[in-house]
Amino acid sequence: MFPAAAAVKKGARVEVMRTQVAIVGAGPAGLVLAHLLSRTGIDCVVLEARSQQYVEQRVRAGVLEHPTVQLLCDTGVGRRLQEEGLSHRGIRLRFDGADHLLDFVALIGRSITVYGQQEVVKDLIEARLAAGGPVFFEVGGVRLSGLDTDEPEVAFTGGDGVERILRAEVVAGCDGFHGVCRPSVPTRHLQVFEREYPFAWLGILAKAAPVQPEVTYAYSDRGFALASMRSTEISRLYLQVGPDEALDAWPDDRIWEELNARLALDAGFALNEGPVLERGVTTMRSFVVEPMRYGRLFLAGDAAHIVPPTGAKGMNLAVADVAVLAEALERFFATGATDLLDGYSERCLRRVWRAEHFSWWMTSMLHLTPGADAFERRLQLAQLRYVTSSQAAAKSLAENYSGLPYGS
Ligand code: APR
Ligand code: PHB
Repeated sequence: MFPAAAAVKKGARVEVMRTQVAIVGAGPAGLVLAHLLSRTGIDCVVLEARSQQYVEQRVRAGVLEHPTVQLLCDTGVGRRLQEEGLSHRGIRLRFDGADHLLDFVALIGRSITVYGQQEVVKDLIEARLAAGGPVFFEVGGVRLSGLDTDEPEVAFTGGDGVERILRAEVVAGCDGFHGVCRPSVPTRHLQVFEREYPFAWLGILAKAAPVQPEVTYAYSDRGFALASMRSTEISRLYLQVGPDEALDAWPDDRIWEELNARLALDAGFALNEGPVLERGVTTMRSFVVEPMRYGRLFLAGDAAHIVPPTGAKGMNLAVADVAVLAEALERFFATGATDLLDGYSERCLRRVWRAEHFSWWMTSMLHLTPGADAFERRLQLAQLRYVTSSQAAAKSLAENYSGLPYGS
């Protein structure tokens, strides 16, 4: 137990705690932030609405950019990632009945790593608990107050039913798109930028060995499909579906048939099929809020921005935000200087908007827009042929996909 995080007043009804940074949310953003802060001796408390088991099992995306891998390895939470993660030289774009490898290592000297987000979360929770850092799981009724003062507070009910107040110097809003932190900011202080897409992804996790050696994005007349993996035994596969698609409409046979049809190659292709372990539908949205700060509240990850999953950027952006925030907080707590905290939002938003553009661009290039005419389809094909034949265009895709440096 960190001394500064210990309860300072135990009343009959409310327990008051103190910390330097209150972190709301134990997804990648909250957990990486807690990890980076504790390495520099900054005290923090993490509050998470779900159970530990739930956050460790929640199936999400699984491509780590080069800078994400570097950060996790450099800070001592990359052991399992290096042992079990699949290092890939690049990705494949499949169209016109053929595969086109974009070899990032040959193009720009950088690889990507396929490693499930929930595995990253497990590694970070293990590190946090081993360091004795508090994580309160299954909290309820989280309320933020005093955000425009130097003493913000987070009130919550613990999983044990005890009412608590966490007094902090800074609150990190890492509670995802549907969390409470962003809505705690008076709306006049935030500007929202948003796009919804007229399609969604149906994703499955299957006990079936992946056939394709790299993550493969397929453009077809039947709609987009993506063939990814989690290990040499587990496939992760996605199909473009309607925005309000009912899962009931997709029995296993139909899913496999449609995946095979969209992933077809002139030379022949068939997925290995196996039991479906998990399935779900993901809506597609681009969303950014500006600024990513209100007083002593700093928003990070999905709480501040969402990308459609086509560029595999969600988790990577969350990690990039908190890397910037951790550096700013370190300076603030060491010297009292607020310059880096004051620059946090602007510095993050430059990279966020680059990733927003890349994710929107990949999405627009690869999906079948309902009602799209032949003109739009020809433009998409022209773009696909360009990025797979021009070195300059391929390099641009490669550097965006494998991750631009932080602060760029
Ligand atoms: N109080 C406490 N915790 C909350 C609350 C709340 N009121 N509301 C939400 N949470 C928790 C969620 O249960 C979740 O565990 O906040 C966490 C937010 O984690 P993520 O949604 O994973 O968001 P983030 O850490 O920003 O990571 C972004 O995760 O959502 C994916 O695709 C996204 O890959 C991206 C990455
Ligand atoms: C995944 O493996 O889950 C995955 C891969 C690439 C994406 C999105 C998700 O663009």
